[in-house]
Amino acid sequence: MSDNTIDSLKEALKHSPENTPLRLLLAETLLSFNRLEEAETEFLTVLRSTNDIKAKVGLATTFFKKGNYSACNVILEEVIENGTQDLNVFTLYAKGLLKENSIAKAVETYKRALAIDPKHFDEELDSQLRLKGSHEVIESDDEIDSRFLEKPTVNFADVGGMESVKKEIELKIIKPLQHPELYKAYGKKTGGGILLYGPPGCGKTYIAKATAGQVNAKFISVGLNDILDMWIGSSEKNLHDIFELARQNTPCVLFIDEIDALGASRSDMKQSSGRHLINQFLQELDGIDNNNEGILVLGATNTPWNLDPAFRRPGRFDRIVFVPPPDETSRESILRLKLNNKPTEAIDYNSISKKIENFSGADIEAIIDIAIEEKLESSFEDGIPKPISTKDLQNAIKKHKASTQEWFMTAKNFAMFANDSGLYDDILTYLKIKK
Ligand SMILES: Nc1ncnc2c1ncn2[C@@H]1O[C@H](COP(=O)(O)OP(=O)(O)O)[C@@H](O)[C@H]1O
Ligand SMILES: [Mg+2]
Repeated sequence: MSDNTIDSLKEALKHSPENTPLRLLLAETLLSFNRLEEAETEFLTVLRSTNDIKAKVGLATTFFKKGNYSACNVILEEVIENGTQDLNVFTLYAKGLLKENSIAKAVETYKRALAIDPKHFDEELDSQLRLKGSHEVIESDDEIDSRFLEKPTVNFADVGGMESVKKEIELKIIKPLQHPELYKAYGKKTGGGILLYGPPGCGKTYIAKATAGQVNAKFISVGLNDILDMWIGSSEKNLHDIFELARQNTPCVLFIDEIDALGASRSDMKQSSGRHLINQFLQELDGIDNNNEGILVLGATNTPWNLDPAFRRPGRFDRIVFVPPPDETSRESILRLKLNNKPTEAIDYNSISKKIENFSGADIEAIIDIAIEEKLESSFEDGIPKPISTKDLQNAIKKHKASTQEWFMTAKNFAMFANDSGLYDDILTYLKIKK
């Protein structure tokens, strides 16, 4: 095609000005040559006599190229409302919205395109609307439900040690759920959540799940980073969706992991949008616009010192509970729990527990795993499962390093130098450091 084509199309139209397909072809050709004013005139002429979608999209594209994004968007919004499945319409609309700074709407539109065809990536939109590293395919509401919602099969009996945490959860959130009238009689307020903190692998997530199992409630578990990092601009909606999911599934334990992701120290949180997100989170937590009855909120973080103090107000995470690495007795009970139902010889639990100081529950799982792998290898020879012995576990311990110590290096500094109102006294006590 060339300028000649345009001339001959114009010539032909002179003879049959009512030939709409011909005029559309001229308009599209003009557009492809970026002769935008002329293209606009021709598209408008076509649209005076027909309702042609191609002409509408063409006109919208012309407007987009001219930088008239609001005119472009008005047209495309209507085309989409009328049920188009043309993916290019969605991507163009998303780009138009992006130009007009309607980020949330742009994300939604681009998601709709990807929902129709997940392979329809648009590099420009991808780079602007998605944060790095997240190429997850979009989820519908049902998928969100099944991804975050579960019915746990573990309860407190499956959790080794953690007696004081269990007691705290019992008093603060289980009893109020079971006996609301008693609390009312004494005028004692219920509500609010518990924030668990401590080194990784020591059972924060696990006890939250077991809490749900304990009261026969559903369990909703989300990592805040999942919510924050998926799509720019849609964090608010994601947050709200999660709380709504909880409200529709009471009684439930809503477990929010990585609470520190909302901390003021994250650089992107310093911006106003981050502040906005924190406020929205707190509002959802307060349940001002919505009823949070029947939702038990548990939060967890490895870095409580990053947390905005507003989180700790009454009715929010007003209990902060340290989850330390298991003590010797707890280590023994975790060992017993994890070896239960596995082929073992008589194990010298006492000596093993003594040897694994500073091991977390996850570390204990790891050494059992190592022992099992070695056993499996020797079982392949004759096909007979060999029982795990004390010696096997001792060998496995040599191959695994406790994972809790690194955390304490940082925690110790905060506990010693930024311990406002004794928040981290538990850490000092654990480390046997006198205040
Ligand atoms: N006290 C415990 N009793 C039984 N299992 C535990 C305990 N602590 C940790 N575990 C095991 O270690 C795994 C990791 O623990 P998790 O709760 O995810 O740690 P955290 O959330 O504190 O990082 C759990 O899935 C669980 O199997
Ligand atoms: Mg966890």
